[in-house]
Amino acid sequence: VTVTFVEENGTVKTFENVDTGQSLMEVGRTNGVEGILADCGGCCSCATCHVYVDEEWREKVGTPDDIETDMLDMAEEPKENSRLSCQIQLTEELDGLTVHVAPTGF
Ligand code: FES
Repeated sequence: VTVTFVEENGTVKTFENVDTGQSLMEVGRTNGVEGILADCGGCCSCATCHVYVDEEWREKVGTPDDIETDMLDMAEEPKENSRLSCQIQLTEELDGLTVHVAPTGF
């Protein structure tokens, strides 16, 4: 599948032929996307993999569960469309997904 990250500074990074079955965070971190720190390694406990899901993708990506919602409350500048990218599992359905990387606060 193809996924696109827009970094905080506006740089657009698109990755093609990404394998499904991994999280969006893993794609970002493997490819050095700025702002995807993922300090906790995907355990939903650091909120440094915070992204904003583009409007047209929100429905497909879905909403965060309770644990994720609590973490997002502690993230920098949470918004309506905030998600933790380690909790977004890539599927064929998400082909074309675009997210904006949230500020890390550092
Ligand atoms: Fe830590 Fe997502 S990688 S919350």
